[in-house]
Amino acid sequence: MADELLRVENLKTYFYTLRGVVKAVDNVSFTLRKGEVMGLAGESGCGKSTTAYSLINLVPPPGRIVGGHVYLDGMDLAQMSEHELRRKVRWKRISMVFQGAMNALTPVYTVGYQIAEPMIYHAGMDKQKAMERVEELLSLVGLDPGIAKRYPHELSGGQKQRVVIAMALALNPDLVIADEPTTALDVVVQAQILNLLKELQRKLKMSIILITHDLSIIAELADKVAVMYAGKIVEWGPADVIFTEPKHPYTQALLRAIPRLRGPIDKLIWIPGTPPDLVAPPPGCRFYPRCTKVMDICRREEPPMIEIGKEHYVSCWLYAKR
Ligand SMILES: Nc1ncnc2c1ncn2[C@@H]1O[C@H](COP(=O)(O)OP(=O)(O)OP(=O)(O)O)[C@@H](O)[C@H]1O
Ligand SMILES: [Mg+2]
Repeated sequence: MADELLRVENLKTYFYTLRGVVKAVDNVSFTLRKGEVMGLAGESGCGKSTTAYSLINLVPPPGRIVGGHVYLDGMDLAQMSEHELRRKVRWKRISMVFQGAMNALTPVYTVGYQIAEPMIYHAGMDKQKAMERVEELLSLVGLDPGIAKRYPHELSGGQKQRVVIAMALALNPDLVIADEPTTALDVVVQAQILNLLKELQRKLKMSIILITHDLSIIAELADKVAVMYAGKIVEWGPADVIFTEPKHPYTQALLRAIPRLRGPIDKLIWIPGTPPDLVAPPPGCRFYPRCTKVMDICRREEPPMIEIGKEHYVSCWLYAKR
């Protein structure tokens, strides 16, 4: 693909715990184009954040990437040294709004200083210039530049989320990974943050990977959707196709769980049963114990990834030609 930005191939990231090996990301593949917004969806614990950390090769111990590739312009980030990743990739090419980042802002430094920090330390910008850029970034995310002098506790949740988004934009990355950027916010503020992301994407033409367990958020923003279940992508394709003609029984169930009016997460009707333990996932298809369309083969053999339409892939035995 000429306009390809990121290509992930057979990525595997495991956590080596006392309980055993947690296969949090197990053979994940997808591609992302320049300027494209991809939603990564799935229930809690399915490996969304671990996938995100893997893309910037920043998996926290006891986890590590044990296989696969993450290509960005021909560079394999999964194989790159920490030094090179810092020098060439993180913040500059790919930045991340970490899950819960707005609550992890340091209470003792001003907001302005915290936004300036990566510019000073990762891009070697001088302090004066970095502070000028901070003001620019604050207006870009819809905040009064005067907020630079304030401390995190003086800001509302929505303002703090705008600040962490500003941080991610500091060095003009090609890709921003936003991990649950609206989860802790009330419904009105959620909508404002989503609008901001939409606006920024249009203005800056960047790619976004938007991680959330709320498919209705993805529906508003994404060009592509990847649905994860128990460490694997079970369906991936254009958002309009996935939302109108979901193929995987898990995607279908997730879509049925979207409330009519967007309400609090705990009001969602989840799919019966729970995701498997990723130390010992079931053989065959990992979704089979909860699947209403389960067949014999699903219990025995892992389903292949099948191209079911244009750039639409599903990993399910229902669609395999046998
Ligand atoms: N530091 C860690 N040590 C051990 N296991 C971990 C660690 N971080 C994540 N895991 C495990 O890896 C799996 C995937 O977790 P991950 O946080 O990537 O899921 P998620 O989809 O982001 O969930 P959520 O929606 O709750 O944020 C889970 O089984 C989790 O328990
Ligand atoms: Mg997560």
